[in-house]
Order: sequence, then C-alpha cells, then structure tokens
Amino acid sequence: MRGLAAQPVGIVAHTVRPASPVDASGLAAIDTRVNISPWTETQFAAACAGGEGNHAWALVVEEDGRLEGFVVVSQVLDEATLLSIAIAPPQQRRGLGRLLLSAALARAQRDGAQRCLLEVRETNVAARRLYTENGFALDGVRKNYYPCEGGREDAVLMSKELKGTANECA
Ligand SMILES: CC(C)(COP(=O)(O)OP(=O)(O)OC[C@H]1O[C@@H](n2cnc3c(N)ncnc32)[C@H](O)[C@@H]1OP(=O)(O)O)[C@@H](O)C(=O)NCCC(=O)NCCS
Repeated sequence: MRGLAAQPVGIVAHTVRPASPVDASGLAAIDTRVNISPWTETQFAAACAGGEGNHAWALVVEEDGRLEGFVVVSQVLDEATLLSIAIAPPQQRRGLGRLLLSAALARAQRDGAQRCLLEVRETNVAARRLYTENGFALDGVRKNYYPCEGGREDAVLMSKELKGTANECA
C-alpha cells in the first residue's frame, strides 16, 4: 500500500499492518459486534483496496494471526479523516485502540496529512476519551446527527494537528 512502511509495528504479540481486501469479512464481523450502524463487507473491501484514486486506507491489528481490530482513514492531500476504529469486544481496554490510532496518525502524517478530523457519538465515552488522550481537541457539535435508540444524539467533532515529525504524533 501507498506510503506505509512495509515492516509491521509490533507490541508484545500484537502486529499492526495495512489491511487488504481479503480482510474485509473479518473487519465487517468486528464492526457488526461493536457498531449500531456497521459497514458492509463491500464497504470494507473498498476501503482496503488501496491504489491510485482510492482515498481510503485501513490498518488492522492482529494477535497471533487473529484479527482483533481495525482503523479506516480517508486522506485527501493534507487532511485525514478517521472514518472508523474498532477493537473486538474481548480485546478492548488492552491498549489496542491506542496502538491503532497512533499507527494511523503516523501513516497519515507520513503521507502528508497536517490535520486529522473525526466525529464521534456524544455518548461514546470510551472513544472520546481515547481521542482526547491522544491530542484531539473539540471543534464543535452537530446536533441530533446520529440515530440512536429512542431518538437521535449529537455528533462531537474533533481534530488534531499533525505538524512536526512522525515521532511526535506516534
Ligand atoms: C473506542 C475503542 C476503539 C477503544 O479501543 P480499546 O482498545 O478498547 O482502547 P485502549 O485499551 O487502547 O484504551 C485507550 C484509552 O481509551 C480510553 N478508553 C478505552 N475504553 C474505555 C472505556 N470503556 N471507558 C472509558 N475510557 C476508555 C481510556 O482513556 C484508555 O486509556 P486507559 O486504559 O489508560 O484508561 C473501543 O472501545 C471500541 O472498539 N469501541 C467500539 C467501536 C467504537 O465506538 N469506535 C469509535 C467510533 S468513533
């Protein structure tokens, strides 16, 4: 894939690597378990395809060859947007989300991004804390953006500047 170092980033038995289209079913299976509105396998396959003209790319984290999580980013010139990040429920709260986020920001920066944007459900305490701890700041709120049980909830808009060296953002 474009721009990502070939060597995996490893922590203990975990490996972060670029996703490929064959990972799409595994990513969809994880997403179905954790998201109210999961992506389809076709959507993941497109995000994992890479290549010229495809703005999206994805990284996966594995433990002993098992897919445990993913992050999907869309990148246009100097702006990256974090589209999705998820860790399989039994593996949550073990540092894998932080690991994937750092790897994604490092790759985005290496590929020329100066800013990373995202939006997150207001009630998603885990994700909001992950982003805040990793330097994302509040940009605003989109009222009643997401459907949720019993109505709608706000989207919280956040961003992080990615200036400086790759090491600073990883
Ligand atoms: C959000 C998510 C990716 C975090 O991944 P994770 O591997 O569980 O997170 P980590 O173990 O790396 O935790 C990093 C930090 O995030 C925060 N965090 C993670 N889970 C949390 C929880 N359940 N409650 C509160 N804070 C939490 C903490 O600050 C944590 O640091 P700490 O463990 O030192 O306190 C994971 O909870 C997930 O897959 N959620 C469902 C999908 C989702 O909501 N994606 C985000 C869409 S915007």
